Amino acid sequence: MIFKHIVFAVLVYGCTALSVLKPGITSHKHEKLWFLTTEHTSYVIGVVPKTGEVLNLHWGPRLVSMTDIELPVRLPMERGSQEPAITSAHEEFPVFGGLRYGPDVMRTTFENGTRELELIFESGRVKKNELTIIMQDKAHKGFKIELSYTLDIENDIILRKGLVKATTDETYQISKAQTAAWHISPQAGNVKRELISLAGAWAAETQVQRHSLFPGTSHVLQSVRGIPSASAYPYFAVIDTTSDGEHADNDVYFGTIEWSGNWKIEVNTNIEGKVTVTGGMHDRDFGFDLKKGHELELPSFVAGYTNQGLGGARKSLNNHIRDNKDSELVANPKGVQPVLYNGWEAYEMSVNITNQMTMAKMASDFGADMFVLDDGWFIGRHADNAGLGDWFIDEEKFPQGLKPLADYVHSLNMKFGLWFEPEMVNPNSNLYREHPDWVYHYDERTRHETRNQLVLDITRPEVKEYIMGRVLNVTSEVGVDFIKWDMNRPMSEAGSAVGKEVWIEHVKAFHEMVAMVKKAGITFETCSSGGGRADMSILKKVESSWPSDNTKPDARLMIQYGSSLVIPPDMLSGWVTDSPGNDPKTIFPHSYRFHVSFMGALGIGSNLNHLSKEDLKEYKGWVKIYKSIRHIMQKGDLSWLVAPPHANKETTARETYTAVTQTVTKKKDESVVLAFRQYSAFWFPLPPIKLRDLIFDAEYKITIWSASPDKPVFKGTMTGGALMTKGLKMPYLDSQAYSSAVVHLKQI
Ligand SMILES: *[C@@H]1O[C@H](CO)[C@@H](O)[C@H](O)[C@H]1NC(C)=O
Ligand SMILES: *[C@@H]1O[C@H](CO)[C@@H](O)[C@H](O)[C@H]1NC(C)=O
Ligand SMILES: *[C@@H]1O[C@H](CO)[C@@H](O)[C@H](O)[C@H]1NC(C)=O
Repeated sequence: MIFKHIVFAVLVYGCTALSVLKPGITSHKHEKLWFLTTEHTSYVIGVVPKTGEVLNLHWGPRLVSMTDIELPVRLPMERGSQEPAITSAHEEFPVFGGLRYGPDVMRTTFENGTRELELIFESGRVKKNELTIIMQDKAHKGFKIELSYTLDIENDIILRKGLVKATTDETYQISKAQTAAWHISPQAGNVKRELISLAGAWAAETQVQRHSLFPGTSHVLQSVRGIPSASAYPYFAVIDTTSDGEHADNDVYFGTIEWSGNWKIEVNTNIEGKVTVTGGMHDRDFGFDLKKGHELELPSFVAGYTNQGLGGARKSLNNHIRDNKDSELVANPKGVQPVLYNGWEAYEMSVNITNQMTMAKMASDFGADMFVLDDGWFIGRHADNAGLGDWFIDEEKFPQGLKPLADYVHSLNMKFGLWFEPEMVNPNSNLYREHPDWVYHYDERTRHETRNQLVLDITRPEVKEYIMGRVLNVTSEVGVDFIKWDMNRPMSEAGSAVGKEVWIEHVKAFHEMVAMVKKAGITFETCSSGGGRADMSILKKVESSWPSDNTKPDARLMIQYGSSLVIPPDMLSGWVTDSPGNDPKTIFPHSYRFHVSFMGALGIGSNLNHLSKEDLKEYKGWVKIYKSIRHIMQKGDLSWLVAPPHANKETTARETYTAVTQTVTKKKDESVVLAFRQYSAFWFPLPPIKLRDLIFDAEYKITIWSASPDKPVFKGTMTGGALMTKGLKMPYLDSQAYSSAVVHLKQI
């Protein structure tokens, strides 16, 4: 990077000294102007003198010097009376009020009936890598908002947050409170601009979608289910591709919201091609009465820019999460995740001490590090219509409780994990019979059930206290090391004493409960019928996330492609299962199932009783190989050399790879390639795969496994240069359906 060489230089330019911007936040000496500089990007904020609007003056490639910004800061030229300057301006925090007709982020009603805001700059301060700008309503001076910007310099990320305050006796009725607006300038030249989103559904999460950003359109991405939800992951990427192919690199602006509840991202493209991305908490049924001395915290909206395509965007977000784990809650952020066994798909709710001990022994024999008991262990739980809420161990299934099982698992040198769904209750449960008022409800409205369950009002302290009492008592009595925390239905009829603030308070209560579990030293997997609650705020607090209930390897490749845009591989739990067990015509070899799951944190969920001795031996072989490359798979940088088939991807008639990934260590001394071919009608040979990110003049030892873990299909050496230019031949992916290979490269 050129900046590395000139960062400390001061160039003499005419008669003025040109001082080069360093990474961090630089304030202008005379103007209200701040330069936020990361390794490869710049973000510049300025205040219009006298009138006090706060504007974005640049977001994109790193600037060299302050003189790259034209002064004085001013609103854009007004093209006509129907095009007010303030609507065209790149406002950092465009509110509802005045001549603003573009997307807004905040709406408030004042006590005297005024429904518009007029926010102006009050002050700004810089503390290390954080800039805070305080804005104030021009007339209702007690209404203030602190906009903060924190830099992750190395990963080229900016975190924007907001804190709304009432400082006089007036109460403000806030009906919309989103966090930020991001502005992406129009591009000169022939550029195709697209929005990438992650839409989905249960068992089909994070499907990559591409939408053309035509001038004069807007796109809304959202969840209104009380959780981030499987219907869409809170993520956007705006990608530019030059249609002439002169420049290979793609500009990408990307971001995600740290919020485990209702969210909304709007992408608005005006007629000039300027893109404004606004987002934060959803405004559906939203309301917050801000009283004196109280604050409303807006969740952070995290975003970045890269010229390295989606791969660069993925790397930034993945590493931002890994580098910013909550140190009070995650004891060992650098540690690798265990290979786990979970018997859910084998026994569902018919678990008992005998079958679980049998599974545990078999899991330990093939090398599992953790054994997880899923749903079905508590009283009344024989089907999904009863028992939720009654977190007492079923003594018919486990006559001596769960401790003997946990002790046995520990004696086999494995950790013991347990499933919970604490926010839920079945009407057919002792808890509900005793406390029918503990669920969200309106007296005169139907309590709509889905999966036979209702949502507990965890904003009530007594409810939260009770369920956390049960969770922590069970885990401490039994000796539980890991919890899989599920959430299997959306919220509805959200009636609660906290009123409309329920959409915020539920999220806060959930996070408080997560913190309690984490402070008890328990590792944690976030799950909501799959990947429905894996936003960045929870990812920074826990070890693991469950991306989907769909464990079919062909589906998983697509789901993992989408999830990996945000979720780092060590947090992406992938199981080898027997799915689809009900379709005898779709036969995935064990090797294909394992190789797909190798991409993240490996788990096994097969019914081990159905496996032959040879199968179990093969499982053991793959687990051993995985453990030898786990540090690369989990902690390295993942990129997709060939993206799997996904929504509106152009497919060519030529048969090729279904997907190829490459994961590289930070030092580039080790790498793993996973290559997949789902189907081949014509037996065309595959072209060599050109690898990336290796050391050009280093020599690598190469080991390749394909259908069997017993014996590599290839061993040899090649230079990084040859691997990246000539490529790696892949004759092992033959015409057989579902062939795959694992390639381990190690610098000699
Ligand atoms: C509303 O409140 C503002 C600020 O206190 C005040 O200036 C204004 O006159 C009030 N308007 C009405 C209609 O009371
Ligand atoms: C445990 O479950 C198995 C089926 O998995 C069953 O054969 C066995 O009888 C059960 N044992 C007890 C003690 O209920
Ligand atoms: C948890 O255990 C403590 C100590 O035995 C007990 O006082 C408390 O009632 C238990 N809480 C629940 C909710 O079961």
